[in-house]
Amino acid sequence: MSKVKTGFFCQNCGYESVKWLGQCPSCNQWNTFVEEIKHKEPAKANGWENYSNEKRTNKTVALKEIRANEEKRLLTPDKELNRVLGGGIVAGSIVLIAGEPGIGKSTLFLQDGLQLSNITVLYISGEESEQQIKMRAERLKLSNENFYLLTETSTQIIFQEIKKLKPQLVIVDSVQTLHTPFIDSSPGSVSQIRECAAEFQRFAKETNTPVFLIGHITKEGSIAGPKILEHMVDTVLQFEGDRHYAYRIIRTLKNRFGSTAELGIYEMTDEGMKGVANPSEILITQKEDHLSGIAIAATIEGMRPLLIEVQALVTQSVYGTPQRTVTGFDLRRLQLLLAVLEKRGGFHFGVKDVFLNIAGGLKVEDPSIDLAVLCALLSSYEDVALPQHICFAGEVGLSGEIRAVNRIDQRIAEAEKLGFEKIIVSKYGQKGLAKQKFNIEVISMGRVDEVYRYLF
Ligand code: TYD
Ligand code: MG
Repeated sequence: MSKVKTGFFCQNCGYESVKWLGQCPSCNQWNTFVEEIKHKEPAKANGWENYSNEKRTNKTVALKEIRANEEKRLLTPDKELNRVLGGGIVAGSIVLIAGEPGIGKSTLFLQDGLQLSNITVLYISGEESEQQIKMRAERLKLSNENFYLLTETSTQIIFQEIKKLKPQLVIVDSVQTLHTPFIDSSPGSVSQIRECAAEFQRFAKETNTPVFLIGHITKEGSIAGPKILEHMVDTVLQFEGDRHYAYRIIRTLKNRFGSTAELGIYEMTDEGMKGVANPSEILITQKEDHLSGIAIAATIEGMRPLLIEVQALVTQSVYGTPQRTVTGFDLRRLQLLLAVLEKRGGFHFGVKDVFLNIAGGLKVEDPSIDLAVLCALLSSYEDVALPQHICFAGEVGLSGEIRAVNRIDQRIAEAEKLGFEKIIVSKYGQKGLAKQKFNIEVISMGRVDEVYRYLF
């Protein structure tokens, strides 16, 4: 009997070492090494080739001789998904969808698979039983004759079924449950995930069938396991959103066939995920009565302008150390803005507790939200409501200057569309901005104190 070969693998990034290490030299994480059994039959080519009879040999070809068949894209009925994929599903592409457990990955892809009625879809589930999936499909009120289900985790059996069925789209839920007989380590381990994904990758490329791999990420946000797949797949989509809120965002982290600046927004309803075509309208709770501490930011998320409500609460601190609590915003960024207000405006936030909340449970990365955050803080500090129908777009610098943000005309246009009357922007970098063409009043300011004097 031959000796079983083992290796130590970092469960975070997949780094392989011959001995156990406390800290991974590749990703610097601690205590991530686990011993795993390596290939059972290392000499043989393993995976998908073993299940298919036709062997392929690759030759060198001149690039000009390759005829690109103008990426045929498959448009799904789900507009948000088409958008994040860069305009539909590319034949032979392999897409990784990562997200925390319970965020709605299975729901969305079951729903999208069921809606693709003109192609054969195979949904492979290693997590739920056939009955559970059937119940979910009934809850979604969808049915489809070309939709097939396989509850199996061994890639050997999966590929046998695939050869029989010849699906035109394969959805795997989830990649962590798969195991290949060519590797001995347990499902979910780094070497299993990598090998199973590689088998699907070869399958996708050789048969030109698109494959969706669903993967779980850990609470810290790192894609345990799936992280090591990022370079292998064509597209990485990441699910975001707070489970306690209805909104879910899909961000494109990597895309060989499109922009990575794309973003899809869904609302989780009791009948599945509904694409949100007009997110700004929902994210602003335009109340009748004026409340202090609320400001609207004209941000751009991905490629789309998005108006978002920022809520701040500033109260007298009861304990010695003032609290700073944020949802959907970077805590260090808040501390920086508070320091700017303290130093440049003489506001005493040092004795106040500050709470900041971005409506809808969204996480905003666009720095143009700064000005709205600052105005929400000031509004709560002064306990004076901001005038209605005003919104903000500007980054705030350390000396209290308002810095220009990109694609300002798109932001102004969105604010105008939603019925805002005024928008405060930076006075810098306005070349080529034709204010006259907007019905909304565009107010340019250079410093935070100007804004303060204007508002209060
Ligand atoms: P699920 O798709 O199972 O999450 P994941 O596959 O990412 O782990 O989503 C589960 C949650 O979605 C669950 O808490 C119930 C909720 N849900 C709805 O709100 N509406 C629905 O129509 C369905 C099917 C699920
Ligand atoms: Mg699931």
